[in-house]
Amino acid sequence: MIKKVSLTAPGSEQLLAWYDKHRRQMPWRSEAGGTPDPYPVWLSEIMLQQTTVATVGPYFEKFIRRWPRLEDFAAGNLDDVLKMWAGLGYYARARNLHKCAGIVMADFGGNFPRSQKQLLQLPGIGPYTAAALMAIAFDRYAVVVDGNVERVIARIFAVRKPLPHSKPALKKLAASLTPHVRPGDYAQAIMDLGATVCKPKNPQCPICPWQNSCCAYDQGIQEELPKKMTKPSKPHRYGTAFWLQREDGKILLRKRAPSGLLGAMMEIPSSPWIDQAQMSAAKNQPAIHAPVNACWQKDGCEAVKHTFTHFHLKISIWRAQTGMSTKLTQAADEERCSWVDINDLDTQALPTLMRKIAQAALSRS
Ligand code: ADE
Repeated sequence: MIKKVSLTAPGSEQLLAWYDKHRRQMPWRSEAGGTPDPYPVWLSEIMLQQTTVATVGPYFEKFIRRWPRLEDFAAGNLDDVLKMWAGLGYYARARNLHKCAGIVMADFGGNFPRSQKQLLQLPGIGPYTAAALMAIAFDRYAVVVDGNVERVIARIFAVRKPLPHSKPALKKLAASLTPHVRPGDYAQAIMDLGATVCKPKNPQCPICPWQNSCCAYDQGIQEELPKKMTKPSKPHRYGTAFWLQREDGKILLRKRAPSGLLGAMMEIPSSPWIDQAQMSAAKNQPAIHAPVNACWQKDGCEAVKHTFTHFHLKISIWRAQTGMSTKLTQAADEERCSWVDINDLDTQALPTLMRKIAQAALSRS
């Protein structure tokens, strides 16, 4: 008779021993056993929200070179922060980052508060980031749960309930494993385990320190977990970007409203983004949104496509040429618009969508 081997309880000691050998090198991580500096920990955690470690690396290095300490960053100006952030997406993160730095300098003497409750009051710091800071920056007990951790926990306990409904249960189970010793290393260890071993596809179970504790592995269902509710499909929106070249070759850019999607970033002046029904109702007259009166021509190139969290967007490009004394149609644009040399577009706070539009327009020039 084959005797079934019973599962052992997942122990933080096994995971920490694995981490001591296999921890990933990251530019924001302190040396093994070293004392972390909260500034790079905070900066990296904000950057890593919704973004991969590989993408964040070069941005993080650039930020730290430019603003080596929190006080440098807080004293820097928001437009420079947005320029440096351009391409990372979710621009509210950059605006909140700068606001948060100002508050920590003004209200906390430049030291991040060491309580989750106070951290949660700061702009851009939600439950995940507050817990990550407590654990990683201050080595205090906190239950740190991101997408990687949810996957590890769902598999260890074979949680079949789909995400996001299972979130509270996964958090409770994660708490049941979180140790009071080395909480900072533990938080990073379980995230590293999820990223490098307990991967969404092809999990590397034979090298997992928790293989003997994994209910999903025991049942052979590790690749099926975590289950996820199917997401509703995203709606489509449509807009027009106005590519205006002045006779000296410069291009008209405009700063977007300070908050909202792509808030405070630069844009190729664009119409509002509307859905199919609004397009029909408006009889689709994008020229009324043009920043100047000119002989606008629809570009023959395919519309630029971009996907945001909640919708797909298609932008048509209209182009025109103009003289040196062009008048903007909207008085409010006087302050928000600037003429930028084609060769300097890279240095502007242009989000990825606007870079795609510029590239499409330039490829047809
Ligand atoms: N993902 C987000 N923060 C992380 C960290 N500190 N270590 C590993 N992966 C992470």
